[in-house]
Amino acid sequence: MSGEASDRTGAAPDAQPRECPPCSSRAWPLFPCTWKDKRGLEVTFREYEPSWYDPLFRMYEEFEPKGEAQGLPPATPSAVAAWLAGLLSSNMNLIAVVGGEIAGHVCLTEISQRDRCELLIFVQPCHQNFGIGTQLTRGAQLLARALGYRRIWLMVETTNPRAIHVYEKTGFRFLQAQADLEKEMEVHLF
Ligand SMILES: CC(C)(COP(=O)(O)OP(=O)(O)OC[C@H]1O[C@@H](n2cnc3c(N)ncnc32)[C@H](O)[C@@H]1OP(=O)(O)O)[C@@H](O)C(=O)NCCC(=O)NCCS
Repeated sequence: MSGEASDRTGAAPDAQPRECPPCSSRAWPLFPCTWKDKRGLEVTFREYEPSWYDPLFRMYEEFEPKGEAQGLPPATPSAVAAWLAGLLSSNMNLIAVVGGEIAGHVCLTEISQRDRCELLIFVQPCHQNFGIGTQLTRGAQLLARALGYRRIWLMVETTNPRAIHVYEKTGFRFLQAQADLEKEMEVHLF
């Protein structure tokens, strides 16, 4: 974890993963931390740093089906690289690591300064449904709160009940009754 990333979440720069406190705890964003998923596999949550680029690129290159969520991830390696460059410039990225490979990634992008950011999340298909997406979403909320953001916003397709379930479970609510295929959700952090 980089010094900057460590400082902003309160962990020492050379911190080793520790067990994640309960998700309800406000102390949770002391990344890196470890947690056991529903299979009993150890998952380490940490802030992204450039040494993780290759595993992250691989996760999206291998992700199937391409374009599953709102046309993402992109279909070709060059498009993945360009898309990732944008996401990683946000400097608010968390990864979930299982056995040295990235099982999941959540990115927050600022929408309005220190007020609202947007969430985007992917869990590698072979690691879906074991609780990782829920933990990453909670981790993203705690990271955003630690950085002073008040709200997280996202768009979700109504044809994605699993994502909606995860978002509602972690406090997101629909902004208004919308008949659209894509709906806005938001969670207040303070
Ligand atoms: C959405 C996503 C991030 C969730 O991550 P995940 O690791 O699979 O999620 P979790 O295992 O933490 O939780 C899944 C929950 O959905 C539930 N679920 C699974 N299928 C469901 C369905 N068809 N309808 C409703 N709930 C469903 C599970 O039971 C579980 O809930 P529980 O823990 O309360 O039992 C992941 O599936 C993913 O990457 N999907 C593709 C990309 C995507 O859709 N991203 C979101 C774009 S808005």
